Amino acid sequence: MNPAPFSQRANPQIIRHTEGPLTDWLREYTRPLHRALDTSPMLHNLLRPELSIADYATTLRALHQAHTRAETCLQTLAHARPPALPPYVARSPALARDLLAVETLRANGTHTAPPSVHVSGTILAAASPATDPPRVTHTDPHATYLGLRYVLEGASLGSRVIAQQLKKRWPEIEQHAFAYWGLQSELMQHWLGVCEQINSHPAGLHESSLLQGAETAYHCFLSVFRPETHDTTHL
Ligand code: HEM
Repeated sequence: MNPAPFSQRANPQIIRHTEGPLTDWLREYTRPLHRALDTSPMLHNLLRPELSIADYATTLRALHQAHTRAETCLQTLAHARPPALPPYVARSPALARDLLAVETLRANGTHTAPPSVHVSGTILAAASPATDPPRVTHTDPHATYLGLRYVLEGASLGSRVIAQQLKKRWPEIEQHAFAYWGLQSELMQHWLGVCEQINSHPAGLHESSLLQGAETAYHCFLSVFRPETHDTTHL
């Protein structure tokens, strides 16, 4: 099946015509969004051997901003979590910690000195979301919740690749500014739980709500990592 171009996928009446796991369909339809993200210069930089500590800080700040936006959306639908799925564990606090550690490393050339209140305030202010998170509609809150979570938990799959590259680049980074990557690895099993919920939902899920949740989460990231291509018309 060829996924429709993004502008057509904004149609809320979208219908799935194929059998098979719903997650396969969701993956096909969101593939261009993932592609736009994993080729974004800032994220792509993380895989380059010449990544600088300043670039790392910039990307952590952007990740913090994107996660905060998407996690705020998810929070508004927390009541729609299936009881069998563990609660979502926010990644933004780990990113904030890593960011402080990296900025301290950059400022002092060492990780040991705690950042001053002024420095940490500045860093976190810079890492805060620039705009309000997108609003999500509630046709089928369970489906929208699972769509959002599909993308948020799915990010742990790419994180595995990135974490390996970062450890190769800076073997010592694991002791310093690695809380986010560690958490992603720890929570990877939540990804499987989300897929299971999507594929075996007893009442069936409203497919366009599922897709809307996933697209909304991707757009929280694209608005930060690919602002030039970011399309908000469907949000
Ligand atoms: C440089 C950045 C990234 C790279 C290299 C990357 C790479 C990958 C890879 C290799 C997979 C397949 C893993 C497998 O099948 O075992 C994957 C899946 C996935 N990633 Fe990423 N990823 C990146 C960023 C992200 C981000 C930031 C998000 C979320 C906002 C994300 C969401 C997902 C999702 C939902 C899946 C599962 C669906 C699919 O396979 O398309 N990824 N990623």
